[in-house]
Amino acid sequence: MPQSKRSKKSSSTKKIILELQNVSKVYEVGTQTIKALDGVSLRVREGDFLSVMGPSGSGKSTFLQVASILATPSSGHILINGKNTTKYNEVERAHLRNSEVGFVFQNYNLLAKTSALENVALPLVYAGIDEKTRLERAKVMLEKIGLGDRLHNTPSQLSGGQQQRVAIARALVNNPSIIFADEPTGNLDSKSGEEVRKILQQLSKEGRTIIMVTHEHDVADIAKQHISLIDGKIVDGKMKI
Ligand SMILES: Nc1ncnc2c1ncn2[C@@H]1O[C@H](COP(=O)(O)OP(=O)(O)OP(=O)(O)O)[C@@H](O)[C@H]1O
Ligand SMILES: [Mg+2]
Repeated sequence: MPQSKRSKKSSSTKKIILELQNVSKVYEVGTQTIKALDGVSLRVREGDFLSVMGPSGSGKSTFLQVASILATPSSGHILINGKNTTKYNEVERAHLRNSEVGFVFQNYNLLAKTSALENVALPLVYAGIDEKTRLERAKVMLEKIGLGDRLHNTPSQLSGGQQQRVAIARALVNNPSIIFADEPTGNLDSKSGEEVRKILQQLSKEGRTIIMVTHEHDVADIAKQHISLIDGKIVDGKMKI
């Protein structure tokens, strides 16, 4: 469906992309038990752009990792595009994640000795796409993100902002239903941060569904919906159910 048609739908008729039902995550370290997420429920619909704020240690990264099925919850359910992932095994989770989820990390997480082009093409290997098509699609993504002239540079030959743009291109290359970003501007100077902010804003305008953790209010401002976490609970925000 064209993006313009999607965005004209009212919020209540838009498809639910992500649903968390009473999700908790407990970490056991030695004799210590840490409840990093405590009964979080929310719905994210197609085209939503959600910011997640909260103090250090409040559970923001845990929330992103669990919601993006990188990590499993201790209890509760996570549904992606209506698929309940509770009973999924490792392989099923990896498969769903590869096709439906894009993730952008604060520290980019690019392969150090690998070109921008091959970093972006990597998720397509797991999707079983042939090499020629992989490289073509990666090139298109890098051009879209303004790095068409840096295809063969390795991460150390790129600025922090450029590395984060490569990471965003990699997150998008499989055309995921939802993009998660954990402090995407956290390591960047203000100019590079602004570039990344503009790209996320543009992706949101194109109808992408995004959840972004940030400490910075001016970065959170580009989102359309906002929640705050304290001690693993949503304390504020319209997305709560
Ligand atoms: N792998 C882990 N093992 C044990 N405890 C963990 C683990 N990851 C996080 N925690 C604990 O869970 C709580 C939430 O951590 P989390 O990283 O989700 O917070 P955060 O809101 O992202 O913090 P920050 O803003 O500093 O990135 C913290 O008390 C933290 O110490
Ligand atoms: Mg964190």
